[in-house]
Amino acid sequence: MESIVKKILALKNRRRAVILAHNYQRGEVQDIADFTGDSLGLSQQAARTDAEVIVFCGVHFMAETAAILCPNKVVLMPDAQAGCPMANMITAEDLRKKKEELPNARVVCYVNTTATVKAESDICCTSSNAQKIVASIPLEEEILFVPDKSLGAYVSSKIGRRMHLWPGYCPTHHRILAQDIKKRKEEWPRARVVVHPECTPDVIALADHVASTTGIAKHCRETSTKEIIVGTENGIIHRLKKESPEKTFIPATPQAVCPNMKKNTLEKLLWCLEDMEPHITVPESIASRARLAIERMLELSEEPSHAVKP
Ligand code: 13P
Ligand code: SF4
Repeated sequence: MESIVKKILALKNRRRAVILAHNYQRGEVQDIADFTGDSLGLSQQAARTDAEVIVFCGVHFMAETAAILCPNKVVLMPDAQAGCPMANMITAEDLRKKKEELPNARVVCYVNTTATVKAESDICCTSSNAQKIVASIPLEEEILFVPDKSLGAYVSSKIGRRMHLWPGYCPTHHRILAQDIKKRKEEWPRARVVVHPECTPDVIALADHVASTTGIAKHCRETSTKEIIVGTENGIIHRLKKESPEKTFIPATPQAVCPNMKKNTLEKLLWCLEDMEPHITVPESIASRARLAIERMLELSEEPSHAVKP
């Protein structure tokens, strides 16, 4: 392990690369990254880096977003097969058809979408800025929110805005059941419940705090409660324990593991720096349109979402 870490660090310097890791990555991948964060924080980090190479340890749409924002940089992924099943629940063709049915609707796409879907959308959002992005659309405008029905329903209820919701969802977050939270609350009656807005509405209704992964990390650092039930992908617990070693983090269920997020390993990270592939690219004809949707979001999200050095 130690030698592979040394090799990665040496090659990273030689390639003038930066390593970005999502909060759900394996612990050892988070530990070697220059920055760990949520989807917004990592896109902001990609947009501002002066590194020549970005190694994106996350899922495919995240690396695509970096490639769209940094057309002159090389964006690598340790495993290009790490996709997001929710992002695959809508295609550009599906969306074009829906837009014909709803010709006046503004399309807000969750960042968990392919570049081609972003290219068909008006504005992008992440779990940390979705309320702000939706609220920026004038009240008289109709909104089509794609593809996460759970995040869409949560935003809708928080800001009192009706939207057309695409029926997509995160299979990992939907494995967290209300009965799991209730059981954990019985076992840990003093614990606080923090969940991600990709969870189902009945799980969200039982939560004390709902936030993006970086928002969850911030809340866990700041709360005085020592026991916390975590309703999101369990990879985040590595970061939570590191940041607050005195607290106890209780996964809502052991089932909340995203197999795609775990596809990136230290070995594949080393190989991608050696081979300079898989290289993630987006054709400029698509990237130029998708970039508009992402840049509109970034303009409305001036506060950095704190991708951190682990
Ligand atoms: P955030 O890290 O932006 O909260 O997103 C979670 C997620 O689903 C990543 O796939
Ligand atoms: Fe997609 Fe859910 Fe995995 Fe995130 S946790 S990559 S939304 S399947």
